[in-house]
Amino acid sequence: MKVIVVKTYDEMSREAFSVMKEVVTANPRAVLGLATGSTPIGLYQNMIADHEKNGTSYRGISTVNLDEYAGLDVTSDQSYIYFMRHNLFDHIDVKPENTHIENGKAADRQAECDRYNALLEELPRDIQVLGIGSNGHIAFNEPGTPFGSVTHIVDLTESTIKDNSRMFASIDEVPRQAFTMGLKNIMNAKKILILANGANKAKAVYGLVRGEVTEKVPASILQLHPDCTLICDEAAASLL
Ligand code: GLP
Repeated sequence: MKVIVVKTYDEMSREAFSVMKEVVTANPRAVLGLATGSTPIGLYQNMIADHEKNGTSYRGISTVNLDEYAGLDVTSDQSYIYFMRHNLFDHIDVKPENTHIENGKAADRQAECDRYNALLEELPRDIQVLGIGSNGHIAFNEPGTPFGSVTHIVDLTESTIKDNSRMFASIDEVPRQAFTMGLKNIMNAKKILILANGANKAKAVYGLVRGEVTEKVPASILQLHPDCTLICDEAAASLL
C-alpha cells in the first residue's frame, strides 16, 4: 500500500484530486467508484472547481456508489443519492443515467442486491474512492463481514449509528440498516484511493496499514490489493 501523509484536509483533498484527474484524463469513459461521508467532500469540490475552470468533462464517465441507507428514498436529504447530487453530480456534466447507487427503497431487497452485483460486473471500476469508519469499516462493511462478501444488506453497528448521527437531527432518525457493496466488490476495482483525516481515524488507519489482515478490521483487506493508495493527514497517521 502506498501511504501519503499530508498536513491538512485541504492538502489531502488536492492530492486525492490529482489521482482522480489522472484516471479521468487517461480514460474519458472511466468508471468511478465513489463514496459518501465528510471525508471525500473536498475531493469532490476540487473536481467541481476543475470542471468549471478547465472544462474537464464527465460526459462519458460512469459512477457507482458504495452504499445507501435502507428505507430512505431519493427525496430524503439524508440519503446518499441526495448527498452525491448535492456534493458532486449536480455540478459536473456527468449524465444522470450513468450514475448508479443502490435503491434504498427497493421492495425486494435481495433482488436489489443481485441487480447491483450484476451492474458491478458490467462496469469494472477504474478507481474506487473510500473513506474509513472509526471502527475500520469501509462502505458499510462492519467488523466481521466476510472478505468474500458481495452487495448485501447490513445491520449497522451502534458505533456507526453514533458516528453518523451527527448528520441527522437525532440519533433515532439514523436508519439501522443499509445496502452496501461487499468487500469482494471493493477489491475488484483496478485502483483504490482511501482517504482519512482526523485523530478519531488513527486507530482504524493503523489497522488498515499495519494491523493483521483480519475480518475484524474490514479495511485491512486492502493490504492485499495490488494498487491501493492511502492519503491521510498527520492526525489520522499518528499511530503509524
Ligand atoms: C459511512 C459511510 C462510509 C464512510 C464512513 C466515514 O459509514 N458508509 O463509506 O467512509 O461513513 O465517514 P466520514 O467520512 O464522514 O468520516
